[in-house]
Amino acid sequence: MRTIPLFLLVLICTSSFYNASLPAGDPLDRKIDSLVSLMTVEEKVGQLTLYTSDWDVTGPTIRSGYKEDIKAGKVGAIFNAFTAAYTHDLQKLAVEGTRLHIPLVFGYDVIHGHRTIFPIPLGLSASWDLKAIEQSARIAATEASAEGLHWAYGPMVDIARDPRWGRIAEGSGEDTWLGCQIARAMVKGYQGNKLGDLTSVMASVKHFAAYGASQAGRDYHSVDMSERTLREVYLPPYKAAIDAGAATVMSSFNELDGVPASGNKFLMTDVLRKEWGFTGYVVSDYTSIMELIPHGVAADTASAARLALEAGVDMDMQAGFYQSALPRLLREGKLKEDLLNASVKRIVRKKFELGLFDNPYRYSDIAREKETVMKPAFSEAARDIARKSIVLLKNTPASGVSGSGQEKRVLPLSGSIKKLAVIGPLADARREMIGSWSAAGDWKKSVTLLEGIKANVAAGTQVVYAKGCNISDDSTAYFEQAVRAASQADVVVLALGEAAWMTGEAASRASLDLPGVQQKLAEELYKTGKPIVVVLMNGRPLTVNWIDQHVSAIIETWFLGTQAGNAIADVLLGACNPSGKLTVTFPQSVGQVPIFYNMKNTGRPRDPNNKYTSKYLDISNEPLYPFGFGLSYSSFAYGDVAVSKKGSRDQIELTVRCRLTNRGDRPGEEVVQLYIRDLVGSVTRPVKELKGFQKILLKPGEAKEVVFTLQPKDLSFYRKNMSFGPEPGMFQVFVGGNSRDVKTAGFELVESKDAGYDFIFPDGRKDF
Ligand code: BGC
Repeated sequence: MRTIPLFLLVLICTSSFYNASLPAGDPLDRKIDSLVSLMTVEEKVGQLTLYTSDWDVTGPTIRSGYKEDIKAGKVGAIFNAFTAAYTHDLQKLAVEGTRLHIPLVFGYDVIHGHRTIFPIPLGLSASWDLKAIEQSARIAATEASAEGLHWAYGPMVDIARDPRWGRIAEGSGEDTWLGCQIARAMVKGYQGNKLGDLTSVMASVKHFAAYGASQAGRDYHSVDMSERTLREVYLPPYKAAIDAGAATVMSSFNELDGVPASGNKFLMTDVLRKEWGFTGYVVSDYTSIMELIPHGVAADTASAARLALEAGVDMDMQAGFYQSALPRLLREGKLKEDLLNASVKRIVRKKFELGLFDNPYRYSDIAREKETVMKPAFSEAARDIARKSIVLLKNTPASGVSGSGQEKRVLPLSGSIKKLAVIGPLADARREMIGSWSAAGDWKKSVTLLEGIKANVAAGTQVVYAKGCNISDDSTAYFEQAVRAASQADVVVLALGEAAWMTGEAASRASLDLPGVQQKLAEELYKTGKPIVVVLMNGRPLTVNWIDQHVSAIIETWFLGTQAGNAIADVLLGACNPSGKLTVTFPQSVGQVPIFYNMKNTGRPRDPNNKYTSKYLDISNEPLYPFGFGLSYSSFAYGDVAVSKKGSRDQIELTVRCRLTNRGDRPGEEVVQLYIRDLVGSVTRPVKELKGFQKILLKPGEAKEVVFTLQPKDLSFYRKNMSFGPEPGMFQVFVGGNSRDVKTAGFELVESKDAGYDFIFPDGRKDF
């Protein structure tokens, strides 16, 4: 094959000489068109092909011959390869070894940090701190781009309401509205001001679509849902990410109503491109194009490749199906070359935007890598964000029971404690701290709870440690030693939970209980009569009812990342007042799943005294901890909710006010949440819907009026005829510190005479 000299390509891609000789139009379009016009079919298909390197394994297959593929121009992008030096070497193979010298794009699962690891996404979301979440993605992008990466496989925005699904750990929980805010923050964090800036990486919003609804919480399982639920609950966070400029989209493994996502034209073309105007490229998730065969919608390689490309999937991750089938399909006239060209153009456009045609090595800079990776400032940020992600679930006096409220609660731990026992399989478990999908994070650099406590505890406190048991086996051999340690101590800090590998991909569990003999260990320690503070580490809601009923205090710490131990110590010892709130409901029993706060009322809402109502015989409908729940070392009192309006016609706004007072004795932050309920609609509406929140910092004794505004469009939903908008009628508005404990008021939305809407307030009526 004839080689096109590099200088000529550079001229095509960058020179004003070349542009001048072309017809008018967008200069980038013209460059892309002329590049694509030079390409053979094989070279085009190469651009549509993505293979993994052998540096990391994130799926069931790897490809050992990827370097040969690069040199042969058979691949346009590589994932699971990083560091400035290695990406430079691979880039050289592409740029110097292929006829058209087209640079590679390097992608990787930069999910919650790259080298400096932040809390798992479910934990991050519990911070309800959009700036902190954006900052975590900004730092991740800064580190990743300094290691030659251009493309992060995040944010994962799948709404997840089934804690059996291990990938619930990778997302922002159960709520659509919050999921949208976080999706935007993450895209801004990854992509920075614009693609092409050296610290920006392309985001890949995933997994499109509705992967979080996999049946029975089993990974890769089918999804079947109404279009109303799809559009109202599952699609908005992907749309929010795309509106925020996400450069790429990753398809999901699941089928949706019988059509697997990677062959689903409705999703990939009709919704994504036609309705939402997405102009970036779509990559399949791993071998999902190949999986069209076992799904049963394609008989062979050629039909799977054709189905995927025609659906709108531009890039084939790891299956190699495009490479083996597309050239032949074109030769046989079974595929239009225009379709292929459109995908190639979308992909090379991003390479142009990243500046790779100007300098293919610009991200692979060893000096920048050295001065960027794991900077002390990044560790500080990781510690701060980790603290913000911790949720205080229980805090009672040492007896474990709340009394008059006058007794001193166990947390924060008193500086005068003489002896502290740190016990549990996760107390000194360095490997677990960074959780699943921790990319290039080095677990050896993470701080364990034991280390964090030792480094931060008061000088006079002696710390003793006992492991107690392993995370998931049946051995009680170390119980005795742990009981001895507890008996000699004033307070026990007991770290329980899951191993990092128990959540993430291919990590579904049928039980939500603590694995192994961990609860038994807690029961033994409880017999010592010592106050117990449980530190939970896990990637999903757990059914920890016994723990909740017996121990004095519980903090939920997820997997907090590199600085886990220090951040937990900051909270336990009182240097930080916890302010996190759950973004996912904790059930009492796996039998309640799916359980989430914004369920429907049903025609027979639960009445414990009436058999024929919607309930269980053996358990209440209540969760163990509701969505939005989280305590503080301060105590916050909510005043009554007042509603009023301002503006008129299309400018009309509802104002919701509530006075928040810090009744505690230390400064604290409270996530004040706003919910609504549309009482009567053309279709049923959830019993509550989150519509806003504010994180308020108050000094002891300080009070503040918290003010939210809502516009009629904020009350929109998919009406009976699937049009999107609000419906006039009665509403309730709720303000509170979680989705259960709220103050409420009512209003009515009416259509005003002069088009638009108005709000009216039925005097004194609160019980709609
Ligand atoms: C996962 C994706 C991930 C990809 C690449 C897949 O198995 O589902 O989330 O981005 O692997 O590692």
